Amino acid sequence: MSELDALKVALKTLQDKALDEFSNAESLQALQVLRVSYLGKKGELTSVLKGVGKLPPKERPVIGQFVNASKQTLSESLEKREACLALKEKQVRIEAERIDVTLSGRTSSKGSLHPVQQGLNEMTAIFSQLGFDIAEGPEIEDEFHNFDALNIPQEHPARAMHDTFFFHPDGDEKANLLRTHTSPVQIRTMKACVDAGGEPPLAVVATGRVYRCDYDVTHSPMFHQVEVFKVDKNISLAHLKGVLQHFLSAYFEKDVPIRLRPHYFPFTEPSAEVDIACVFCHQKGCRVCKGSGWIEVLGSGMIHPNVLKSVGIDSTVYSGFAFGLGVERLVMLKYGIPDLRLFFENDVRFLRRMGA
Ligand code: PHE
Repeated sequence: MSELDALKVALKTLQDKALDEFSNAESLQALQVLRVSYLGKKGELTSVLKGVGKLPPKERPVIGQFVNASKQTLSESLEKREACLALKEKQVRIEAERIDVTLSGRTSSKGSLHPVQQGLNEMTAIFSQLGFDIAEGPEIEDEFHNFDALNIPQEHPARAMHDTFFFHPDGDEKANLLRTHTSPVQIRTMKACVDAGGEPPLAVVATGRVYRCDYDVTHSPMFHQVEVFKVDKNISLAHLKGVLQHFLSAYFEKDVPIRLRPHYFPFTEPSAEVDIACVFCHQKGCRVCKGSGWIEVLGSGMIHPNVLKSVGIDSTVYSGFAFGLGVERLVMLKYGIPDLRLFFENDVRFLRRMGA
């Protein structure tokens, strides 16, 4: 066999082998490896061509044409196989990415405000809408603001009504304490107004934690109060009753009958406890209202002249009303929550049910 024929046979064998391998290639990556090994610079085709040098010059173009045709064939075959594999790979990918639109969705769980905070917000909003300013005071108080200025002097029996947590005083210092109610905010707000050269009218709502050394099914050593007061000329009990009626109906989102029952607080005169018609039995009498048809919800009264005096407000010119309520208690009544401790145990099942 002549050199030329031998070369042609070698090329043909190589081409057949390549075509066979191309059509068996199972991935684009494998195909790329084959492309390099046959058509690359150091590929098999190139190495076969090294034999061309041995041919007489006039035969070289013949073999050149042969090689070019072979290259062309291999390239075309590669391209076809490439297109076919690309399509296959795309189909596999699409199949893998298929989304089952009939699967039910995953819901994301969102946190929510604690029911006490929700209650505080709702209550504050009602007074804001009436034009009351929002105030705050410290939870660590002194005896002056928590007691003295509120007309509860040392040795006054009313101090015993408050089971106070005291801090140990240092030497001559007066004892600090955890405030037992939010009424000291009345003192701080009125005093700040007077000290700044201002004068009433003052209409304020204050909320916050209060502390009493007391623990059972209906008492927690820490709970929340909302304190509301208004001082102006000619403020009367009728203003108090009007605001209470509006507030309680707005909070319970229905007309709730209320009644004011005479009571005693050192810092108000006259004082009244406020009852609402039982929201559970509509006054037919039940366990919650102990058959009376009424439930006590808050303490109130006309600010005692001594209190106005203690902050430098002239009680012959100005008068005011004030009331304070337990937030947990009101939230319990609105939602029929049976146990105060649910607010503090933070069982997520309870919190979720109360979530807004
Ligand atoms: N501070 C009283 C309490 O905690 C409630 C109250 C506030 C009563 C304002 C009258 C006026 O019991």
